[in-house]
Amino acid sequence: MNAVTDILKDMSYGPAPEDDAIVREWLAATPEKFAHFVDGAFVAGTHERRFETIEPATGRVLAELPAAGTTTIEAAVAAARAAQKGWADLAGHDRAKMLYALARAVQRHARFLAVLETIDNGKPIRETRDIDVPLVARHFYHHAGWAELAADEFRGMAPVGVCAQVIPWNFPLLMLAWKVAPALAAGCTVVLKPAEQTPLSAIAFAEICMEVGLPKGVVNIVQGDGETGAALVGHEGVDKVAFTGSTDVGRSIRVATAGQRKALSLELGGKSPFVVFEDADIEAAVEGVVDAVWFNQGEVCCAGSRLLVHESIADHLHQRLRERMETMRLGNPLDKAIDMGAIVSQQQLTRVRAIVETAQKEGARLFQPAAALPETGTFYPPSLLTNVAPASTAASVEIFGPVLASTTFRTPAEAIALANDTRYGLAASLWSENVSTVLHVAERVEAGVVWINATNLFDAAAPFGGYRESGYGREGGAAGMAEYLKPECLPAPRGKVADTAPAEAAPVPETRPAGGVDRTAKLYVAGKQARPDGGYSYIVRGRRGAAVGEAGLGNRKDIRNAVEAAAKAKGWSGLSGHQRAQILYYLGENLAERAEEFAARIELQVGGGRRAADAEIDASIRRIFHYAAWADKHDARVTSTLGRHTTLAMNEPFGVAGVLAPDASPLLGSLSLALPLLAAGNRIVLVPSTPAPLSMTDFYQVLETSDVPAGTFNIVTGARADLAVTLADHDDVDVLWGAATAGEIADCERRSAGNLKPVFMVDETTVDVAAEEFKGRRLLDRASRIKTIWIPYGV
Ligand code: NAI
Repeated sequence: MNAVTDILKDMSYGPAPEDDAIVREWLAATPEKFAHFVDGAFVAGTHERRFETIEPATGRVLAELPAAGTTTIEAAVAAARAAQKGWADLAGHDRAKMLYALARAVQRHARFLAVLETIDNGKPIRETRDIDVPLVARHFYHHAGWAELAADEFRGMAPVGVCAQVIPWNFPLLMLAWKVAPALAAGCTVVLKPAEQTPLSAIAFAEICMEVGLPKGVVNIVQGDGETGAALVGHEGVDKVAFTGSTDVGRSIRVATAGQRKALSLELGGKSPFVVFEDADIEAAVEGVVDAVWFNQGEVCCAGSRLLVHESIADHLHQRLRERMETMRLGNPLDKAIDMGAIVSQQQLTRVRAIVETAQKEGARLFQPAAALPETGTFYPPSLLTNVAPASTAASVEIFGPVLASTTFRTPAEAIALANDTRYGLAASLWSENVSTVLHVAERVEAGVVWINATNLFDAAAPFGGYRESGYGREGGAAGMAEYLKPECLPAPRGKVADTAPAEAAPVPETRPAGGVDRTAKLYVAGKQARPDGGYSYIVRGRRGAAVGEAGLGNRKDIRNAVEAAAKAKGWSGLSGHQRAQILYYLGENLAERAEEFAARIELQVGGGRRAADAEIDASIRRIFHYAAWADKHDARVTSTLGRHTTLAMNEPFGVAGVLAPDASPLLGSLSLALPLLAAGNRIVLVPSTPAPLSMTDFYQVLETSDVPAGTFNIVTGARADLAVTLADHDDVDVLWGAATAGEIADCERRSAGNLKPVFMVDETTVDVAAEEFKGRRLLDRASRIKTIWIPYGV
């Protein structure tokens, strides 16, 4: 042992292990709990496959568990269904008391939970004790509040129902809290599947549910791996799926649940940029990097794993990082003085090693500190890769380990381009002492969370979630609550729907080659009338079968042209809400001037009498004014969070929206979907009703006279189901809306998995988008995505 004087000389640390006796005793006692938790009791899953959970720091087996098969999943979903109505019918205050009791119990068991999580996952006790578990308690407290307030604050919204929730291994208990707390606050019940690598803290949580007397069936937990997860999310008794994990699995869930009429939120992978400008506080940025990519061994979906540094300070920053890395302590995660623990599993360690080897082969230079790794356990040192080319493996693949890949830039524009040069869009961390620089970049970076001079901050009040292939939906705050509620204007019919239902055969319109005197209504692309690429038009017939006109038969190429035009028309998204409102008011005014003509056209196409046609025009004008009114009022939300930060939950447009209009109400149906998207700043490509397209082809004359910038509103007529496929497949379509058939919805959802565009489509046979109640803030919420910007503010 060193003498005190020696220690004072070299300031070395001795081991400071946390006492793990109570957790080891818990692990040894009552093996019945290593099981599923269904309807308020542990269920053995006797004949099921079994798997082991391993302590990463030692390689020891901690417990053996069953992997739920169909019988257990069936029972869990049935228990959740049976409990749902009673739970939703409780007064908000009574649900709040339960969530509050869960929060209190988490705090009471905080030390136990921290030690258990550290043992099962390998992460340092310092982090589970100071970050994971306090955030879990905070999450339940915050959502106890939402349960209390939901009836007032989410008027007109009802719980989604039974939720299947699948979580990863990197923050097992925290991810459980992120999923369970808002669901319960909203009046939903859940079946949750923890990751197979880290099933234990969910069992401790099940014990807490029993301890506080949570009604049976409100929380159910099924253990198992991906096979169990797939069976759970595909179960027909589930109304919503919430998933956190890899982008590949998220994509497979999107495909598997297509057409099943389930709400879906996906929190997926990332490759988040950590951008250091030349005027940054370098020492603060060095500590920022430590928190960005070495926190939790880099096993963080929003890890700042791509360092983008201004070339003038790159050498200095790299040198300071290397020095700092030498001081990081890696080892027994139960040691309170440890900075980094073990990687979650041998498989994950192998994966990290393989990616780093590939990066080196591609020319990256690797730095790792000199200290030896512990002899047992799955450890990997903090690592810095420099000389990383932007398109290389190290810069593009999610490593999910303690590996930082560094690239330099020269100008803020180049930094933005590099930051956005990824298929992901989860988070970004920006470092500069110049407020103009960081706010300018914050606005342009495509990420759901932006930290300014900070990184990896989380709070229950701050919405968290991704752009692009990092998924959709938000967790935390009001936006997170809305994921578990559905507007009552949108009944979601449940029942067995074939998950592979093909789209009904598109009606084959009666076509003819365009030629001679061309009376065919054209397509409207990039602010101009355009002939359909294929040169064909189709005959539009009125209610009694008489030909009432012709419309262009658009094809794939026409959709592509329209998407290209919309993608270029960024000006609309950059306008202020006020400017968009002015243009929309003008649109309404111009439609009012031509009301007679438009009403006549509606009557001709769909019959129903003049009075009905007049009413549709009237409602259309009112709807335009409604969204003009909203255009400058869909405000960002400012939330206070723990610590010296406040967050701005900004509503940003997605970009290019595909819109499939319903067959009913040829004008109002289209406008009811197009307007919220436009008011929120999106540019659109709209496919009007196939049998009744002429109101929208007339409408482009109104667009032309109303100062709507070219490319903002594009119209392609033709066979809707065919055109829908091209929109759903297209990588530059950022979001897809529609009122269509069940088959078209299934097809679009499945195909949307390519670039993971969110799909918001309703069944036109059950939901009337022209109805008076189908409007308002909730639609604007769905037409936007939230960017949460963390700003240093306060003391
Ligand atoms: P994963 O995505 O396979 O696992 C996450 C969860 O999904 C687990 O509970 C798993 O059992 C479940 N699951 C797996 N396949 C499923 C399916 N077909 N249907 C439903 N549920 C399914 O992640 P994995 O394999 O553990 O890690 C691989 C890589 O994924 C990591 O190296 C990392 O890059 C990324 N990842 C990202 C996470 C994030 O938070 N964004 C979390 C975990 C992993």
